[in-house]
Amino acid sequence: RRILLVNGPNLNLLGTREPEIYGPETLADVEALVERVAGDYGLEVRAVQSNHEGALIDAIHAAREDCLGIVINPGAFTHTSVALRDALTGVALPVAEVHISNVHAREEFRHHSYISGIASCVIVGCGVQGYDFAVRRLAAVLAG
Ligand code: DQA
Repeated sequence: RRILLVNGPNLNLLGTREPEIYGPETLADVEALVERVAGDYGLEVRAVQSNHEGALIDAIHAAREDCLGIVINPGAFTHTSVALRDALTGVALPVAEVHISNVHAREEFRHHSYISGIASCVIVGCGVQGYDFAVRRLAAVLAG
């Protein structure tokens, strides 16, 4: 029983990137957090981060083989990528969408998400704790 954790572009810079917006935690911290919480539900985690849209799509396709659900922070691709949305729809796994910052309190171009319309849940503005909530919600959805 496994879930896929996907972090999109620039999230490899977590901890150093605009810490006033995204906080001090690193991507390694986020991945460790997700592994710990998922472990509480008997779920393993495959963690992927890429700055390349196609690599994210390939990882999502691969999840169809051996994952039960997806926690994804698509980064800026949230606001641009029909292809990422189609990949998620295509594999038909439950999706928990996470944004560390409150995108609705930021620039207008961050207000629209191509992903939210096909997500099982959307968590914004909770900092990296949003990943914790996302895993718990996904586990509940998977439990039925
Ligand atoms: C983000 C919000 C996006 O608008 C931005 O492009 C990111 C991170 C967030 O986690 O708050 O890269 O997804």
